[in-house]
Amino acid sequence: LPIRLADYRAPAWRVERVELDFELGIATTEIGAKLLLRRDPAQDESLRLDGENLELISIALDGEVLADDAYRLVDGGLEVHGARDGSVLETRVRVHPAANTALEGLYLSGPSETGFLLTQCEAQGFRHITFFPDRPDVQAIYTVTLRADRARFPVLLAGGNPDGSGELEDGRHWARFVDPHPKPAYLFALVAGRLEKIEQDYRTADGRDVQLKIWAEADAIDRCHYAMDALVRSMRWDEQAYGRNYDLDVFHVVATHDFNMGAMENKGLNIFNTKCLLADADSSTDDEYRRVEAVVAHEYFHNWSGNRVTCRDWFQLSLKEGFTVYREQCFSADMNSAPLKRIEDVGLLRRAQFPEDAGPLAHPVRPAEYREINNFYTATVYEKGAELVRMLAGKLGTAGFRRGTDLYFSRNDGRAAALEDFLAALGEANDVDLSPYLAWYGQSGTPRLKAHGHYDATRHEYTLTLSQHTPASLQQPRKQPLPIPVKLALFGSDGRMLPLHTDGQTDASEIVVVLDEAEQCFVFRDVPERPVPSLLRGLSAPAVLECDYTPAELALLLGHDPDGFNRWDAGQQLALRAYDALRDGAHNGAVNAWCDTLAALFDDARLDAALLADLLVPPGEIELAERESVVDPARIYTLRQQLQQRLAARIGADKLEARYRSLAAQSTAGIDAVSQANRSLKQRVLQLLALLDPTAACHHAATQYLDAPSMTDRLAALGVLARHDAARSVEPLVHYRKRYASDPLALDKWFALQAQLPGEGALARVQALEADPAFTLKNPNRARALLGTWANGNPSGFHRADGAGYRLYADRLLALDALNPQIAARLATAFNGWQRLEPHRREAAHAALASLAGHDQLSRNLAEIVGNMLKG
Ligand code: ARG
Ligand code: ZN
Repeated sequence: LPIRLADYRAPAWRVERVELDFELGIATTEIGAKLLLRRDPAQDESLRLDGENLELISIALDGEVLADDAYRLVDGGLEVHGARDGSVLETRVRVHPAANTALEGLYLSGPSETGFLLTQCEAQGFRHITFFPDRPDVQAIYTVTLRADRARFPVLLAGGNPDGSGELEDGRHWARFVDPHPKPAYLFALVAGRLEKIEQDYRTADGRDVQLKIWAEADAIDRCHYAMDALVRSMRWDEQAYGRNYDLDVFHVVATHDFNMGAMENKGLNIFNTKCLLADADSSTDDEYRRVEAVVAHEYFHNWSGNRVTCRDWFQLSLKEGFTVYREQCFSADMNSAPLKRIEDVGLLRRAQFPEDAGPLAHPVRPAEYREINNFYTATVYEKGAELVRMLAGKLGTAGFRRGTDLYFSRNDGRAAALEDFLAALGEANDVDLSPYLAWYGQSGTPRLKAHGHYDATRHEYTLTLSQHTPASLQQPRKQPLPIPVKLALFGSDGRMLPLHTDGQTDASEIVVVLDEAEQCFVFRDVPERPVPSLLRGLSAPAVLECDYTPAELALLLGHDPDGFNRWDAGQQLALRAYDALRDGAHNGAVNAWCDTLAALFDDARLDAALLADLLVPPGEIELAERESVVDPARIYTLRQQLQQRLAARIGADKLEARYRSLAAQSTAGIDAVSQANRSLKQRVLQLLALLDPTAACHHAATQYLDAPSMTDRLAALGVLARHDAARSVEPLVHYRKRYASDPLALDKWFALQAQLPGEGALARVQALEADPAFTLKNPNRARALLGTWANGNPSGFHRADGAGYRLYADRLLALDALNPQIAARLATAFNGWQRLEPHRREAAHAALASLAGHDQLSRNLAEIVGNMLKG
């Protein structure tokens, strides 16, 4: 039965303090727990604790061993009779870390002989460690004692401040940690094993001395310096931007190759997937550097948005995730380029969240129900959630938003809050009622925003009619109008922004109007000529804009908007028109407008190289598919290639060649903005050249591969070779495979690059790569690199007309599900959109999903995803 938001009740029992004792071992670990219990006098319920896969060794209440009839092991937990307010419950359980392939609870990373032990508790992993009320609104003070063999486990870590350590008999040792801040169980963590560290001292703005320590296995520790740098910058930024200081004496960060997600914000002991922590010039791309910086910041920011103020229940997940993603986005924008960051984030939103919101897995940012909470760590909760916070922040302005978050943090510190608490604090601090925005949290689907402009030349009045419509979904057949802030500007025919005169404001060049009904008109006075409106600027709301622009109008915005993001977005809209024209065999107006404008910008020396690189990329295949009612991924791929070919031809091989040479001559290994921009444009230019003159491009790529001073250049060259000269790519692929044989992250990129090669050949390639000795389903990064990249990042390769891709994939999902249900369920979302596939593929996808659904051993995770897929 699903768990429903509407059924929330405060806990009948809380835990005030908990003492945990770990007797650590790879095969078997024993855990003693001592819980000081508090009963809610208003509720009359016996004590029930969550617990899964735990072998109960002993149980005592208030010092007395419990008789067999005083407790009962039930499905998913333990019932205890006779507990009172203030009772102390002691349990001792046994778990098996090395056998834990789900990577939830206490598990082993790496081989038994050399690997280390660690935990992952969010969302509900703590119940795999001990019997406990495993819900975020139960917050306790933790004292954790770790005991283990010193030689096998020289490093012992848990969240909180260190509180002593020492020797034991038989070569064993112990270490204790006390966390003074009450926390929910999902923020508990421990790490034990052979780890190296780098460290740095930090003094907070409010004067606390903190030891920062990053831990990794010996082969990875040298690649942690960039993360340390990013951590220090994150801590400063949160002090300055939000007035938030760190609150313990130590801050530990640990890297592991075996992790279900990107990273985890455990109090005082963040744990990271190596993919999101390690960075160096030889093995990391520029994108990866930025990702490390962003994820380090994200997890650190959770210390306030998530830990000090946590969530009342898992339906409120976006309270911490949406807000923290927004904070992370602003940090990255401040550290790098704001327009480029916005382009990246909106790209992700359109590629990952809009399709989710339009398909069978659609759910509100605050879901109404779930079966398996781990299935709700989604683009909707994270990315759309961040867009909603951005919308609120935009409405309040920088100072107003800060007043609001100050009130939110102070009022809710130490509490488990709900989304209402967030909106209430933001609103009250600014004397505005934000409650209409709650509707965004409860309604799924991406609103379509229609815009129509009318210019009255005699009265010099421009009337903009905006209307909204959110397509119905299975669970919500009737959608409400939402408050949609539409940031806009008007452009004159010379490409300049016109001053705006409305009833409210005068003379601004950019304003925000809020559409909060199905349809509204907005009138602008003293408009000297028929303007070109630029709408939903900065993507001021997570909506799809449908405006009856002519190609020439979009070309004007692409050519002239002073804001880099808006210029890019105008280019994306124009590229969509161009794509439609190619597809429909219509006349070439839009194609020419797109190509001509970009060709002109290509020659514009003032334009930032990184922005130009982004401008030269049309919307991806997934975005293109979203607009079709019948989807043929092979055809979309071909048309998109044609469109890019037209662009390359319009710029011309000579110019591409010349630009490539000049960029290549300036190549460095640096990760400064200029060097990154250079690489980004160089890669794009080479890709375009390859569409015109593959021989010339592959010649450059072969040289670039050998000479590359950075992974970005190396991988880009390999990609061009593999796509345009399969034969010539064999040698460098083998070379790369050897060179990085003992570097898992670099190998992941090797698998991913090949999984992305388009067309029907992808299936055989994937099968061949599965036979590589380095391939394993047991490591989530590796499984994602090959299978996830193929299914999510290579539509023409995955969606074969004969359905063989779906059959193989379903087979692998079953195998994965037996090992790691979270990963299997996550990868299964690649079937999203299957209902709109053309009939052959649709039938084959349906058959694959139906065969999965027919299995009786499916995990709750995979069963929920497959079930929803088939329902929608
Ligand atoms: N809270 C983590 C983050 O976003 C995500 C961890 C979720 N893990 C999971 N297994 N559901 O930073
Ligand atoms: Zn997070």
